[in-house]
Amino acid sequence: MNATTATTRATEIVLPGVVEPDGLHVRVRDLPAPGQGQVVLRMDATGVSFAEQQMRLGKYYNQPAFPFVPGYDVVGTVVAAGPGVDRDLRGRRFAVVTKIGGWASHLIVEAADLVPVPDGVDAAAAETVVVNGVTAWQMMYRTAKVERGDTIVVLGANGGVGSTLVQLARHAGIRVIGTASARHHDAVRELGAIPVDYRDPNMYDRIREIAPDGVDAVFDHVGGPALHDSWRLLRRGGALVNYGSAATKDQPGSGTAAVLKLFGQLMVWNVLPNGKRAGFYNFWAGKRFRLAAFRARLREDLTQVLGLVESGVLTPQVAARIPLSEAAAALALAESRTVLGKVVIVPEP
Ligand SMILES: NC(=O)c1ccc[n+]([C@@H]2O[C@H](COP(=O)([O-])OP(=O)(O)OC[C@H]3O[C@@H](n4cnc5c(N)ncnc54)[C@H](OP(=O)(O)O)[C@@H]3O)[C@@H](O)[C@H]2O)c1
Repeated sequence: MNATTATTRATEIVLPGVVEPDGLHVRVRDLPAPGQGQVVLRMDATGVSFAEQQMRLGKYYNQPAFPFVPGYDVVGTVVAAGPGVDRDLRGRRFAVVTKIGGWASHLIVEAADLVPVPDGVDAAAAETVVVNGVTAWQMMYRTAKVERGDTIVVLGANGGVGSTLVQLARHAGIRVIGTASARHHDAVRELGAIPVDYRDPNMYDRIREIAPDGVDAVFDHVGGPALHDSWRLLRRGGALVNYGSAATKDQPGSGTAAVLKLFGQLMVWNVLPNGKRAGFYNFWAGKRFRLAAFRARLREDLTQVLGLVESGVLTPQVAARIPLSEAAAALALAESRTVLGKVVIVPEP
């Protein structure tokens, strides 16, 4: 157990305020030596989530004050270990969910948050299933509790979470109806889902034609008025899992009001005696008050998902690999609404 005292030079991408993607800037600074229980991670892959798209607009629930370094999750190699950390971690590859700070060549993280990435799994491939994989897995198995033979609806089946959820569900023997724009229908079909065009004004009728008896779960990150339509798709015993409010991203205001409105609606549906369930999935639930349990659950679930990547069950959807210094282009691409899977940011060539 020897500690590292050397500093590391890090290149970081800074979000200075509410800006267009090209308003991001690059900063170089010396990281302090890792503290007790910490490591320095060299980034091998990070990525663009919907969260960064909201943070850029100041619309992510509870986001930190500007300026800050965005980057929700990272796959990286330990290059230095602080006091109390096993030095054998150095040189090994891990995944970590950071919420912010990932868009950097090097970053300091808590060793206890690291989840091993299997040897042989490409860093960019692993990156696509870190926050996305945990979110999809936990919503399926811990929140909705879906089972083989069920029918579910996944809104945004081409997205980072959506494309992972479709694959996990298909692997579990579940029939999936996936909404996406028409340009992604072939790909969504290839993932195993029945595609439906979310731009079709009769989308919900179309889903009812496919599942006339109702569905067992709807995974809805869109929110807004159509949440009622999602709710109405459920059969008795079904579960509505809401996990975002994409519909209100471009509306003025902080986004907090939209989230609180969602929570209120879900709570009302859930307590009424209607034989159905509704709730909001929050990746961070339990972190503040039950940290050890939160970490254990995350590690267990991410390990399962990474194992499915390693065994070839999950095909990671890497939309593009873009070097860190071009993070602005990565963000613009992710926001272009043309993407299948996840835009991955990689170290400079
Ligand atoms: N609650 C949690 O703990 C948690 C954790 C992780 C993620 N999330 C949420 O999960 C969602 C997906 O995240 P991600 O990183 O996978 O995003 P992503 O890769 O950018 O995918 C977004 C998906 O949503 C669709 N979409 C975007 N804007 C939309 C709108 N205004 N109306 C309807 N559909 C829209 C996109 O379709 P197009 O490609 O056609 O635009 C795409 O299918 C986000 O809402 C995010 O906030 C929540």
